[in-house]
Amino acid sequence: MTHRPYVIDELISAKAIAARIEDLARDISSEFADTNKLVVVGLLRGSFVFIADLVRELSLPVEVDFLEASSYGDGMESSREVRILKDLRGQIEGRDVLIVEDIVDTGHTLTHVTKLLKSRKPARMQTIALLDKPARREVDFKASYTGFEIPDEFVVGYGIDFAQRNRNLPYIGKVRFEDES
Ligand code: PRP
Repeated sequence: MTHRPYVIDELISAKAIAARIEDLARDISSEFADTNKLVVVGLLRGSFVFIADLVRELSLPVEVDFLEASSYGDGMESSREVRILKDLRGQIEGRDVLIVEDIVDTGHTLTHVTKLLKSRKPARMQTIALLDKPARREVDFKASYTGFEIPDEFVVGYGIDFAQRNRNLPYIGKVRFEDES
């Protein structure tokens, strides 16, 4: 990819993210209050920061597992094909499951992953996405829990990358290319 200089403007502060996660965790803890253990499944790689903060706010017994699916390459091009690159380590049949995603964009990733995990017959399964970009949707999908609905901006940080950079920003930023107005 040719390198275009860009700057990152803050869109959602670390403080606003933390406050929203507290609210979401309270709702999830109440929905699953009777669980004997919730399997919290992070979709790699983008969800690694969000899942770390979310599980520490849940007042439930949890197990953490990861699954890696890919719908993008290294750039901004969206592809319709979703491939499973790494599957869960644990069984989820008869278990309570929460799938954790950083962002719902076209909706292909979570549509595919929820279908796949549902076929393994969990007792209950819900989804949570920190960000939702409804303007980009190609398939009808709505997460059970959403942190923030955002406009169609190119976002990075808090786990989300641009060409494998910027995942470590503590906030959600918006990429602005310097050769654009
Ligand atoms: C991104 C993002 C979501 C998915 C959303 O992942 O983290 O998982 O795309 O897109 P969709 O709704 O259009 O399917 P990506 O494939 O870039 O992998 P990463 O999490 O490793 O960055």
